[in-house]
Formats: sequence, C-alpha cells, structure tokens
Amino acid sequence: MKEKLLKKFAELFENSEGAGFFFSPGRVNLIGEHTDYNGGHVFPCALTIGTYGVARKRADRKVHFYSMNLDHFGVVEASLDNLVNQESYGWANYPLGVVWAFAEKGHSLDVGFDMIIWGNIPNGSGLSSSASLEVLTGVILRDLYGIQDVSMTDIALYGQYSENNFNGCNCGIMDQFAVAMGKKDHAIFLDTSTLKYEYAPVKLKDAKIVITNSKVKHSLVDSAYNDRRRECTDALAALKTVADIETLGDLTVEEFEKHKHVLTDPVLEKRAKHAVAENQRTIEAVAALKRDDITRFGELMNQSHVSLRDDYEVSCKEVDILTELAWKTPGVIGSRITGGGFGGCTVSIVKNDAVESFIEAIGAAYKEQVGHEAEFYTVDIGDGARKID
Ligand code: GLA
Repeated sequence: MKEKLLKKFAELFENSEGAGFFFSPGRVNLIGEHTDYNGGHVFPCALTIGTYGVARKRADRKVHFYSMNLDHFGVVEASLDNLVNQESYGWANYPLGVVWAFAEKGHSLDVGFDMIIWGNIPNGSGLSSSASLEVLTGVILRDLYGIQDVSMTDIALYGQYSENNFNGCNCGIMDQFAVAMGKKDHAIFLDTSTLKYEYAPVKLKDAKIVITNSKVKHSLVDSAYNDRRRECTDALAALKTVADIETLGDLTVEEFEKHKHVLTDPVLEKRAKHAVAENQRTIEAVAALKRDDITRFGELMNQSHVSLRDDYEVSCKEVDILTELAWKTPGVIGSRITGGGFGGCTVSIVKNDAVESFIEAIGAAYKEQVGHEAEFYTVDIGDGARKID
C-alpha cells in the first residue's frame, strides 16, 4: 500500500521526498452500545482494516486532501486562514475539522500540508471510517509539526470535538478512543465517565469474530442519533430529581427500577432502561470474558441486541433479519448490531468450524429475504493509529 500511496503522492505533489506514512484502524464494538454519551462502559477493539495516509508539510498556508477511494473528488484545497466546513469539500471536512480542532485547542499550524489517503473500511457500515480518518489526521499533525504535548487520548478527544462541532454529529468518545488506543488481540474496557481503561485479551479459544454488513444505511442516522442523545439527557434530568447521580451510567438496574416512576414519558423510560442495562451488561460481559466464559459473553451480546432493537429502537428490519438468522445458526455464540445503528453491521462470535457454513447459510437466506447480498468479514484485532516507518 505504501508504494501505491507514495506514487500517487508524487504524481499530485511533484515528488514524495520526506513524506510520512501512517495508518489508523477501524473499530468494532463487542458490547456497550449507546452507553458512551451516558457515562457508561464500552468494549470496542481496533481492527486490522483501516485508513492509510501519506502526508508532508508545505511552505504556504494551503492544505490539500486527496482520497484514492474517491478519485472523482480530485484534490480538495482549503486554507489555514479559513477553517470552515464547506459542502464542496465533501469527505475532506473530516480531516479539515481535525485541523480546526487542533487550532481551537491551542495548536494552530504555521504552514499547511498535503495529505492523501486510501482506506478499506466499508463506508457507512458502523465500523468507524470517519473516526479512523479523524485520528489518522491527528497522528499526522502531531508527527509533522512535532506537537509533543498531545497524547493519543487528546487526539481521540480532538477527533470527537471536531466531529461534534465541525461535522455536526454529536457522537460520544468510543470510536475515536478505540481507533487511537487499540491494541492487538485486546479489546478496550473503557469507562467513558473517567476515560479510565483496561485492555482485556480477547481469547475466543475455538471461535472467531465475524462482522456481517447488511449493506443498508438508513438516512436518518445522524438526526436519529442526536435525538437519542437528547432523550437520554431529558431522562437523566428527571432521574436526577430523585437520585444522586451524574450520568445514567451511575445507576444499577435495581436503582433504575426504583426511580423510573419519574419518567412519565414511556419513550424516555425505554431509552434510559437501555442505557442503564447495557452498561451493566458490559461490565458483566467483560468479567465473563476474563473467566473464559464465552457462552455467557454471547448471551449478553444477544440481550444487547434485543435491548437496542426494542428499547433503544436503533436497529432496522435488515439487521434484525441478520441477527435472527445468526441466533438460529449452529456454532454461533452471540450476535448483535454494532455501532450507531439504523443499518450497518452485526458482530457475531462464531465457532471456527462453523464460520464457513455461517457465511453460506446466512448469505443465502439474507439475499432471499432482503433482495441483496450481505458482506462478511472475519476480522483480526489490531493496534491503534500510528506512523509506519
Ligand atoms: C456511534 C458513535 C459512538 C457511539 C456509538 C453507539 O458509533 O460515534 O460514539 O455512541 O455510535 O454505541
């Protein structure tokens, strides 16, 4: 990949002398969905698929972005003197937003840069292609400009800040954190209220992680996501009148049951119920994994899906078909929707010797019921974003 990117870079920007080569992964969340903006726990891991980038400083104040996945965009040009989101920039609003976030946080750039990328994360699939690109940009900026006092956690936070304030999606910290802090063969047990985290080895013995892409993306993704956030904020405000809490993640299921009468709107009650229960499930799932109880881990994944489907209402017909099919398939330990929802992917844990039949059987049944093919990826857990020499 490096050769291909360097060649294109040289073609576009005269030569590739002194240009650096970088990689930033995608992520899959094993459990702990829609808990990250509720002060709860998440359990994602970085993948070995992701976004590659080549970049070099310029002498003037221009910034140039080029994507080898979206050649038709050509080179997008912006200026450090006018860091604003513009529709015509398309995908380049993501890296530009990170430049803006660095400036907002006190790291203004003196000169611009040229950057080209290529990635193999399917877009809009819930595997965090945007967080991957944001964190890639952060790692590039830190390296090119020698910004010493920015940690990988800061890069994740700047990525989230740019997505919230430059690109208009009110996402939590999970995706950027997983992409920045990933570790090979480990998932990250992150407490989003403190950003304290722990790496847990993902030892699935005789099983694998299989991601199934429904290949649907319902258009309401960003607006419905922001609606869910608002509903949780409203539920929290009501619960605070009877419980001494900072976030929904502070409540146990029992405490929630005791106090839920203050939620007079049944929709708010369902949303908060999910946020509370999902956080508890995540804590329990990590404990189960640590004691090698993969069966329990799988059961909790299945429960997570039901809760996201019925209480949080972020699934959709196609993804429900995938999980129902998976639950009925021999050798499947657990299966659930992963990521923001309204389409995208499921994550399943499947016994090694059943992976082939899983792909075949679910592939055929899905095509028959939905009318188009699903895509399957058996994935490996990789390291976080970095410069590659
Ligand atoms: C998206 C957001 C994350 C998180 C998930 C749901 O991926 O970017 O912050 O909220 O949805 O768990």
